[in-house]
Amino acid sequence: MTVQLGSRLRDTRGRMLRDLRISVTDRCNFRCVYCMPKEIFGRDYDFMPHAMLLSFEEIVRVARAGIAHGVHKLRLTGGEPLLRREIETLVAMLAELRTPEGQPLDIALTTNGSALAHKARALRDAGLNRVTVSLDSLDEATFRAMNDIDFPLQRVLDGIRVAQDVGFDAIKINTVVKRGVNDDDVLAIAEHFRGTPVTVRFIEFMDVGTTNGWNLDQVVPSAEIIERISAVHPLEPLRPAYRGETANRWRYVDGAGEVGAISSVTEPFCGSCTRARISADGKLFTCLFASRGHDLRALLRDGCTDAELEAALAGIWNARDDRYSELRTADTPTERIEMSYIGG
Ligand code: GTP
Ligand code: 5AD
Ligand code: SF4
Ligand code: SF4
Repeated sequence: MTVQLGSRLRDTRGRMLRDLRISVTDRCNFRCVYCMPKEIFGRDYDFMPHAMLLSFEEIVRVARAGIAHGVHKLRLTGGEPLLRREIETLVAMLAELRTPEGQPLDIALTTNGSALAHKARALRDAGLNRVTVSLDSLDEATFRAMNDIDFPLQRVLDGIRVAQDVGFDAIKINTVVKRGVNDDDVLAIAEHFRGTPVTVRFIEFMDVGTTNGWNLDQVVPSAEIIERISAVHPLEPLRPAYRGETANRWRYVDGAGEVGAISSVTEPFCGSCTRARISADGKLFTCLFASRGHDLRALLRDGCTDAELEAALAGIWNARDDRYSELRTADTPTERIEMSYIGG
């Protein structure tokens, strides 16, 4: 196979590589029922030992290889990325990188918010541009039940407040909606952030991994969510902020801001999917629902050159044909990686 070097890659469906999602740990202090159910992720669960994790230097090398091929957005994920020691040091290292055109990268992080109140300032100072906080309910009991470690709501709200104070370029809230669990909280969450620059995105519960007991009946279609909000605060559609955006965007007609809906189940967006994922142990996954990754850590630790790393990445991307969400009902692989392993 011929491999393109240092160029804008295309996969077999003509999709470029634009976003790199980097998981920095498979651990999390929460046990969200839809992601790390306690029965599976219990005390004796084998998380990765530290030596298996990519070092910050290795992460930077992988990021540089991606950037050479067109990546312009980096998103740090987990598990819970703020559990990785010195995460702000990694952010500072990534903030020094530039695209071939000399532009800084868009650096974002998705967190459960539990440590944000004391980490936000250091992250911002290190050069983090944007932060996305998962928040599934504003009802104390529902919130505690969904994180399943009885974590208090107020501490996450405090984290969001500090994030607002330190002046990130953008703050988003991710709310995974499960029918019969938190669907009655949708309007309250929308109203809490209405009139602020914070954008809430409601996410359809997805069948990631094999342990979260997913079932179509628990999915609340985005259309229903948008209707519920719009019935009280009229909404109108907005254009995507960028090609391949996960969320459909809506603005309040009265100018009080916007909300989003991520409809991976009812309206898959594989056609414009430009995302690659790196697990904390250095495997490259070309789809959230892939069953196998490509071991970049082995290459790195075998002493590959930057050119060899770029060539490996190009070969993998050129061969990519994933579109799992579009095929979901037709062809569901039984072996799938877990959300906490790949960071969503
Ligand atoms: P922005 O850069 O702010 O647009 O972020 P994002 O939406 O790319 O990332 P985020 O981590 O906030 O993801 C939001 C939700 O969309 C999570 O539930 C992700 O698992 C889901 N998601 C992100 N990328 C994909 C994808 O490629 N496929 C599917 N099916 N879901 C995705
Ligand atoms: N379906 C949809 N979203 C999920 N997330 C975690 N598990 C699921 C799931 N099964 C979300 C988290 C986080 C983002 C990275 O993915 O809430 O906001
Ligand atoms: Fe942790 Fe996020 Fe998974 Fe919840 S969704 S268990 S906060 S990684
Ligand atoms: Fe991309 Fe796979 Fe998600 Fe489709 S299912 S949008 S190909 S990550």
